[in-house]
Amino acid sequence: MRKYLAITILGTLMACAATTPKTTLDANEAKIDSLIRLMTLEEKVHMIHACSNFNSGGVSRLNIPELVMSDGPHGVRPEQNTNATKSEKENDYATYFPTGICLAATWDTSLAHQMGMVLGSEAKARGKDIILGPGVNIIRSPLNGRNFEYLSEDPFLNSELAVKYIQGVQCKGVSACVKHFAANNQEVNRDKVDVIVSERALREIYLPAFEASVKRGDVNTVMGAYNKVNGQYATHHAYLVNKVLKDEFGFKGILISDWSAVKHAKEALLNGTDIEMGTDLSQKKPDYNAFYMADSAIQFVKSGEVDEKVIDEKVRRILRIMLKTKLSGNNIQGEINTKEHQQIARKVAEEGIVLLKNENILPIESKKYRKILVVGNNAVYKQSMGGGSSQVKALYEVTILEGIKDVAGQATQIEFVEGYKPTKDLSFDKALAQNAVNAASKADLVIFVGGWIHNFDMSVWGGTAFDMEGQDKSDLKLKYGQEDLIKQISEVNPHTIVVLIGGSNVEMKSWINQVPAVLMAWYPGMEGGHALANILFGNINPSGKLPMTFADTHLLYPSHSVGEFPGKDNVVHYNEGIYVGYRYFDKQNVETLFPFGFGLSYTTFKLSDLKVTKEGENVVAQCKVQNTGSREGAEVVQFYVASKGSSIDRPVKELKGFQKVFLKQNEIANVKVVMDKRAFEYYDEQSKSWTLEPCSYEIQVGNSSQNIELKQSIKL
Ligand code: GLC
Repeated sequence: MRKYLAITILGTLMACAATTPKTTLDANEAKIDSLIRLMTLEEKVHMIHACSNFNSGGVSRLNIPELVMSDGPHGVRPEQNTNATKSEKENDYATYFPTGICLAATWDTSLAHQMGMVLGSEAKARGKDIILGPGVNIIRSPLNGRNFEYLSEDPFLNSELAVKYIQGVQCKGVSACVKHFAANNQEVNRDKVDVIVSERALREIYLPAFEASVKRGDVNTVMGAYNKVNGQYATHHAYLVNKVLKDEFGFKGILISDWSAVKHAKEALLNGTDIEMGTDLSQKKPDYNAFYMADSAIQFVKSGEVDEKVIDEKVRRILRIMLKTKLSGNNIQGEINTKEHQQIARKVAEEGIVLLKNENILPIESKKYRKILVVGNNAVYKQSMGGGSSQVKALYEVTILEGIKDVAGQATQIEFVEGYKPTKDLSFDKALAQNAVNAASKADLVIFVGGWIHNFDMSVWGGTAFDMEGQDKSDLKLKYGQEDLIKQISEVNPHTIVVLIGGSNVEMKSWINQVPAVLMAWYPGMEGGHALANILFGNINPSGKLPMTFADTHLLYPSHSVGEFPGKDNVVHYNEGIYVGYRYFDKQNVETLFPFGFGLSYTTFKLSDLKVTKEGENVVAQCKVQNTGSREGAEVVQFYVASKGSSIDRPVKELKGFQKVFLKQNEIANVKVVMDKRAFEYYDEQSKSWTLEPCSYEIQVGNSSQNIELKQSIKL
């Protein structure tokens, strides 16, 4: 409890700046008008494209600064404003958080807010105006190389976490950049592929996190995705950007293209791209005036083909965000690499690691297991600089092995053997494996640390890589002989715990019944070793819940069994429509290994007393949750809506509320969620509107999508 208290106090310590009052916003608009009137066309155009790798232009004559951007979603990226492959500085270390999917597995919106505040504070300290995160693209296939960076398969969970993360970043006077708008759910051919997706699937699955980021998160910037959607490039998509994002959602900020995502000058000018980034980095010394929205934009205006007001609107949006942040006069100072920041990174890992299986072996009793063998290259592999643009130069990174050594009792003897290691050709080393099996036969307990890695050679993007930008996995099979090694080790030592690192699941069916415990540790960040060890030795009770369904093989996922992945001839059909993740597995009754929302604890909880009432247009659902076990812990109470007797094709149930509750032994808490009309509506393609179908709706409450304990219906 003490630890939580410390973090709570810390949370208040990192107080937020007040949001900008309306009077100021109105005054800003007047300022913007007068500034635009003073600017030449050339000065305006200079502001709407990059002037270096991560900056867009300013107007020094008018004291308008450049906009300074930096990746990424789980830490401020190393300085590389002119060179995209390596840092130009030595001391550009930052706090390396667990990646997005681990944050999602915490189901803890207040922690998402704290992570956002740290990222905003560190970006500020590094002189950044925009941090290019959160990544909120839906996990449609487990093979997507960037799932590690994103959040979940569910639009509601994505939305709730994104809103809090954005508010956290922006209360530090830095802009968040929710990305990638929209339907960027694969890496193969990401800059060419045309996503063919229904309007209903867009509205119900792929757009909600962006809608919430704008409407509730007040996000300052949005990043346009590389791919096309229904025939047009997302970053300059007349319907998605102008009509949906800006008109319908009311987005008043900046649409920044992904780096080199702009493919057409006039479309970019007319279809809502406000800043063009990264177009011409192929040259050693990029010519920023050769960008689509640079010299050619000036020509288009001078020739009368494009009205200068189009440029003015882009500049207006840029100045609006500058006046809300770097030119607002607030003197928020940033901090970086502080102990408090590292504590929050550890907390995200401790709350995000998911205990999938535990047959009376965890937490480890030191007196029972004196000799512990740690096996696997992932126990010593440092991940922070991997994965692509989201790389972070961590001030330090506690490996799994270091964490276990630090946390295990003095009397415990910890040994390590590599067992397997990453190879360019995915081959495995028989001698390494044999050595590990021999060592395992002599240990009291084995902790096998395997799973995925980002890229084999951290200095090279791509190559033999798995959780990596620009690449997708080919399947979910463990590589480098890990599967056989797990089987062989567990044959000689039944006390074998498997820890998986990575951005998605692996095939487990062939070995999971041979081991008594399995944990999913994702990429747990710079304090990941301590977080995992605290869970293994019982200092922390695990509370993570899966943000994506774990099925046996990738072929069972709807993106492969119904839809296409990664598509062919640069076209990918989302035939599965709205049936993504648990929506599909429920509807088709497909058995999964571990369902969405699943995660075990060292204690037990009981839900009771569900009450569902209508309050105006809202439905209020409340219940009690009791810690009925022998130690403190946290439960994620999940509220699903199931339409009964609907005449529309709808999912069996959809997540529409959740709350993470920390309880001492025997403690009881009330949980209450308020669901608005949208929680019960579906998107009707005929009327092009969200529609409430009059029927009975069952509120289903449980601690995973497959474990519903309470139900109550309400007619709407
Ligand atoms: C990359 C990524 C994007 C990142 C940007 C800048 O290609 O798609 O997420 O923010 O370029 O590095």
